[in-house]
Amino acid sequence: MAERPVFPRDFLWGASTSAYQIEGGAEADGRAPSIWDTFCKLKGRVDNGDSGDVACDHYHRMPQDVDLMAELGLQAYRFSVSWPRVLPRGRGAPNGKGLEFYDRLIDRLLDKGIEPWLCLYHWDLPQVLQDMGGWATRDSIGWFEDYAALCARRYGDRVKRWATFNEFSVFTLFGWAFGWGAPSIADRTTHLKVIHHVNLAHGAGVDVLRAMVPDASIGAVHSVQPMRPETDRPEDVEAAALFDEHWNRAFPDAQLLAHYPRRVAEAIEPYVQPGDMARIARPVDWFGLNHYAPVYGRKDDSLIWGFGFGSPPPGMKRTAIDWPYDPGCFRDTLLDLTRRYRLPVYVTENGYGTKAAETPDAEGRVMDAERLSYLQAYIAAMAEAKRLGADVRGYFVWSLLDNFEWGGGYGTRFGIVRVDFETQARIPKESARWYSDLIRGA
Ligand code: FCB
Repeated sequence: MAERPVFPRDFLWGASTSAYQIEGGAEADGRAPSIWDTFCKLKGRVDNGDSGDVACDHYHRMPQDVDLMAELGLQAYRFSVSWPRVLPRGRGAPNGKGLEFYDRLIDRLLDKGIEPWLCLYHWDLPQVLQDMGGWATRDSIGWFEDYAALCARRYGDRVKRWATFNEFSVFTLFGWAFGWGAPSIADRTTHLKVIHHVNLAHGAGVDVLRAMVPDASIGAVHSVQPMRPETDRPEDVEAAALFDEHWNRAFPDAQLLAHYPRRVAEAIEPYVQPGDMARIARPVDWFGLNHYAPVYGRKDDSLIWGFGFGSPPPGMKRTAIDWPYDPGCFRDTLLDLTRRYRLPVYVTENGYGTKAAETPDAEGRVMDAERLSYLQAYIAAMAEAKRLGADVRGYFVWSLLDNFEWGGGYGTRFGIVRVDFETQARIPKESARWYSDLIRGA
């Protein structure tokens, strides 16, 4: 067994989920569709034709799920609010029942001593707003600002940790450039506008939260997966450089350094109005890092920007879903971010996915040895980064529960707790037991 890494007593340990991936209750109590509900209905786009209609049925099982978090000893829980649940028309009149769900969730978390970390946007834009142009129209900045204000007013007395968006670059690239996620658009101009408007919405959201929530601690959650060219051919190197700007820089650089990276800056210039960069770069309190693996980029002319996913070098260790396995890359990413942005870092997602069914053994236990050793290695790498000077303050495993893994549907499991999607039974896996002991310092 690997040596147990040492972390300071105030290091924060938690787990993350997102609304569309776990809640279900798609039509319960007045919730309206999001762009992901629509996307899931398109033929052949999600494995097995799955959707988030029922998911983990967390909307109805929330009390037991919070009790489970408490049993595991979690100190913090990052969840997202479903915009179409609280504002079925996207704006205007709120849905009281939807708002009450998060009241109950927050109260129960606090009651159990678990700190709520509320993320406003984890990809589920109300479909009605997409029909009005979605993030491609500048109006979206005001829509998001009003939604943020509603949540701040309602939950700001109890929730102090706020994130504006989850993984800006991933949802904008996959949804508006590759077309592989909702709303399935692949268009350069639209993609550039979306990047800029989402950045502006983030800035507006930060201002609203700062003004309305006393003692708010505000951040944003970025996907940072260092980009490596698949080969050293100049065309792959150049494609990977542009891919890197889009994936790793276009949002954090704009928000924290007040400029776009060079290639993106040139392309996006027509959509930038005077004063915009200052509106985007509002001071925040922490950097949320979602990290899984380095990405190998290559030239790919079948995709709109000419870059795409390459393969890792032959022989490189990979996870069960073929993502590169490289804990050293996690350590280096934490160090680089500390130097580049000079903010405390919270790891808001990291974890291990598999397509294995992970069915319980004869004793009813789920022996997820590979996830467990992944978590051990990545948490050890985080400890090393901290020793070397990375200002990392907390870690949230992705994910508490097996859930709707976007295009992978329910066939890809990331949970430390197994969910049987037939019965909705939850079983903490061995990784959850280990994580729980780690948190308790056992
Ligand atoms: C991240 C997403 C999260 C989950 C993990 C595996 O990109 O933020 O919702 O799907 O990947």
